[in-house]
This record gives sequence, C-alpha cells and structure tokens, in this order.
Amino acid sequence: MAVTTSSTSPDARTEQLSDIASAAGTPCYVYDAASIRAAYAALDGAFDGYPHAIHYALKANSSLAIVRLLHGLGSHADANSLGETDVAMRCGFRPDQIVFTGVGKSAAEIDRAVALGLLAINVESPGELDRIDQRAVAQGVRARVALRVNPDIDAKSHPHISTGLRSNKFGVPIDEAPGLFREMASRRGLLPVGAHVHIGSQITTLEPLTKAAEAVVALARDLRAEAIELQHLDMGGGLGISYDGSPVADPAEYVRALVAATRGSGLKVAIEPGRVLVGPAGVLLSRVVDVKQFPGAKRFIVLDAGMNELMRPALYNAYHRIEPLIRRDGAETPADIVGPICESTDAYARDRQFAPVEVGDLVVVRDVGAYGAVMGHTYLRRPLPPEVLIDGSTWRIIRRRQTLDELLALETE
Ligand SMILES: Cc1ncc(COP(=O)(O)O)c(C=O)c1O
Repeated sequence: MAVTTSSTSPDARTEQLSDIASAAGTPCYVYDAASIRAAYAALDGAFDGYPHAIHYALKANSSLAIVRLLHGLGSHADANSLGETDVAMRCGFRPDQIVFTGVGKSAAEIDRAVALGLLAINVESPGELDRIDQRAVAQGVRARVALRVNPDIDAKSHPHISTGLRSNKFGVPIDEAPGLFREMASRRGLLPVGAHVHIGSQITTLEPLTKAAEAVVALARDLRAEAIELQHLDMGGGLGISYDGSPVADPAEYVRALVAATRGSGLKVAIEPGRVLVGPAGVLLSRVVDVKQFPGAKRFIVLDAGMNELMRPALYNAYHRIEPLIRRDGAETPADIVGPICESTDAYARDRQFAPVEVGDLVVVRDVGAYGAVMGHTYLRRPLPPEVLIDGSTWRIIRRRQTLDELLALETE
C-alpha cells in the first residue's frame, strides 16, 4: 500500500495481496484501514484544539465499511446526493453531522434535506435559496443553510476538477454573497449558519486553498459588521495527494494554514476532505490477461481491469503508479498498460517503463482509494468488482463481486 503505517512488512503485504487475489478474484479493490486512520489523525491532530469538524466527502469512496470506519474515527460527513446522505446515516452519522452539497439539487432532495434538519445545506444559487425557503416554510421549519461562494480563484488543478473560477458552474460570485446573506437572514424558512467554498480537487499547493479561506473569512467579518453572525466556515475539500511521488502540500500544514486564516474570526472551521483521507489507502489488484508486442513497435500489457473499474485515467488522463506484485527478472521496457474494453481511451498508462510480465501475473494500481470504485460502471455488462478491507494482518470482503443476475435484475425482456 502507498502509506505503510501498520507493522505489515512488504513481504507480508505481498503475500496478503496474493491471498486476496486468489480468494476474491481480480479485478479487486483493496483498502488499508491503517492508512485511513493515519490520514484522519494527521488532519484532526493539526487543528490542535481549534474548533473544527472534518466532514468526510463521501463522493470519494462511499462503501459502507469505509464510511463506517471514518464515522468511528470521529469524522462528520459531506454528502452530495440523497443516496450519500442515506449511506452516511446508515453508517451512524446524525443529520446534524452532515452537510449537503450539490450543484443541482432536485425538489425531492431539497424536501428531504430540509426534513432531516441537516447541519447545513450548502446553497448554490439564488434560485435554490428560494426553493429551500419555500419547502422549509411549507414544512414549518427553518432550514440551516450555508452559501457556497465562488471566489474566482484558480486551484491550479486539472480543469475537469476545478470548481472555484467564475467560469465554473459552482456557487455564487463572492461579491454577490453579502446581498444574498441579507436576503437569507430575512427569510422565514432559512437560518444562515455558514459560508462554504470548494475550489477544486487534487490541489497540490497551499496558496489557492489559503486564498479561498481568507476570502470567506473576510466575508464573515463583513457579515458580522451587519449583525449576521455565522456559526462555521466550510472550507471544502480539495487537498491533493502525490500520485507520482513528487512533493505535495502536507495535510498538517494545510490545516495550520486554514486555522491561521480563521483564528481571528473565532469561527469554527469545517473541511470536506475526500481524496487525502482515502486515496492512498487503496490499490486495484488486477491480472495480466494478454501481452502483445507489435514487431518493432509497442508492447501492450492487457489487464483484466480497465475503465470500468477505474475511470480516472480515461476521464482525466490521471497518472497512477502501476507495478507487478512480484517483480520478474529482466529490464524494464516501455509498454502501454491497457484494459480489456473496446475503447481506445481504455488505457491506464502509455509508454510506461515496465518490468517483464506474463499472462496470469498480478499487477497493482496504486492510490485508487478515492474516486475509484465509486466511479465504477458496468459497460459491456461487466459486473462491479469486489472490495476488500485490510486491517493489520486480517482482511475481509466489504463488497462482494456483483453477479450478472444482479446486474440484470432491474430489466425485463
Ligand atoms: C463540494 C465538495 N466537497 C468536497 C469534495 C472532496 O474533494 P477532495 O476529494 O478533493 O478532498 C468535493 C470533490 O470535488 C466537492 O465537490
């Protein structure tokens, strides 16, 4: 695993992964509980007593056992759909520990979020604010809302996962926020409790995250001057991890920067991390199903896992370290490491230096604990793969492999 925090030696871990592949089959996701615990402790500890809440972003990985593990660590939750809200509650989170985000909330979602009395509904637009107010008045309650502001800050991440620029669809322009807070404070059905900002994901430098935090702190200060007192500032998620071994911002430094920006306001800090908590904890175990060498040209290593199981390379051209579980003798040569799907975009890596492999060898794709299994799909009628959770020297299947019958169960002929 990428983060080795347990006492498991590399040899023992190789043996464990080999056993898992035999028992659960491949492709298969495998997560390390120790890695998740360590990542959570690093963030939580860095607050050093400053009032805060870590709302684990379920969108990164919402498998029940993972969500329950985070609940057990004291995390709160960030849900992006009713499905995620229900998963969070099923795993023990109370409604007042859940923030609900989403750029296009349906009427049903608003109705239920209001009825549940969530800690905050992160509001994305003036229209949504109206709709939440109407539903809350109809239910005879005041909905706790936080306005998601768009600070027009470049997260310097991949364009497909940047959300804090004016050209992105998320939130309301920050200069419109004071007027909207005044409006919220005047509504019968709304209780403005916070400001929310989330400028993107896989952000590897602190500067954009700190700038976004400073922008919402300044907003809260202006609101206080108008007697609109917030309860928390939700700084979103977005902290990146190192997929290729190059240095990235340290989680503890990130927290310290947020606290430094916020301390003067005295307001509670909420964060919504996903990737940094679970990303390094996961590997995808796969087997080589074919090796092809075009004369004088490329070597192709075909895996039994592809874009069905892990979308990130096809979706964002994302880089993942890939290694044979057991290294054979011989020099590394370039190879395209591809999946079995009939799409040219179904490749995990191109022209990657890779050791010799043979059909049947196990291959490990690293850092797939976030935005891996959750984005999986069943294209070509390929059932969803199993997921396994390692805890020290033991492991258990936390999602078994889907069967074809289950995949077809919703259909009639
Ligand atoms: C609103 C919101 N909060 C939190 C997250 C989690 O982000 P990350 O996994 O990068 O920490 C996301 C993901 O993009 C998001 O959209």
